[in-house]
Amino acid sequence: MAKKPITLTVDGVVYTDDVEPRTLLVQYLREELGKTGTLVGCDTTNCGACTVHLDGRSIKSCTMFAVQADGHDVTTIEGIAAADGALHPMQKAFHESHALQCGFCTPGMIMQSIDLAQEHADPDEATVREHLEGNLCRCTGYQNIVKAVQAGAKEMVDGPAASTTEAGAA
Ligand code: FES
Ligand code: FES
Repeated sequence: MAKKPITLTVDGVVYTDDVEPRTLLVQYLREELGKTGTLVGCDTTNCGACTVHLDGRSIKSCTMFAVQADGHDVTTIEGIAAADGALHPMQKAFHESHALQCGFCTPGMIMQSIDLAQEHADPDEATVREHLEGNLCRCTGYQNIVKAVQAGAKEMVDGPAASTTEAGAA
């Protein structure tokens, strides 16, 4: 199948590539750009492990083709820490609230939670659970994830995280 040229920004870097029209965005991110922090946990658009931001809003990158991201701005879990390595407030909150066990769902959970926090600075439990409906966790029982999202949302409003923990631990 003939490849199509695309140009997009991923985690602040502009990429131009030729991709097959059938290539999913998550495949492109992982296999072409090496952004393996974005995971694939299903083939039915159910799990949310592949969640990234497209122009600042969360999307499931297994549910869109790379060619559809042409001209857009994509942010992955690997692009949210500060330039000095300080964790994003939501990453820090997940870490401090023990909101992960195996960690497979965590990148998608964090990307979805940042999207939520942009609209709800002080979300109640019901709001968090509703917004995370499309993100599945097989380990935690969700209780600490809810706490983390509430803490992370507050910290996003209050200002940058003071943490100097190295990025990538999410
Ligand atoms: S891999 Fe995208 S929703 Fe499961
Ligand atoms: S921590 Fe294992 S799937 Fe969520």
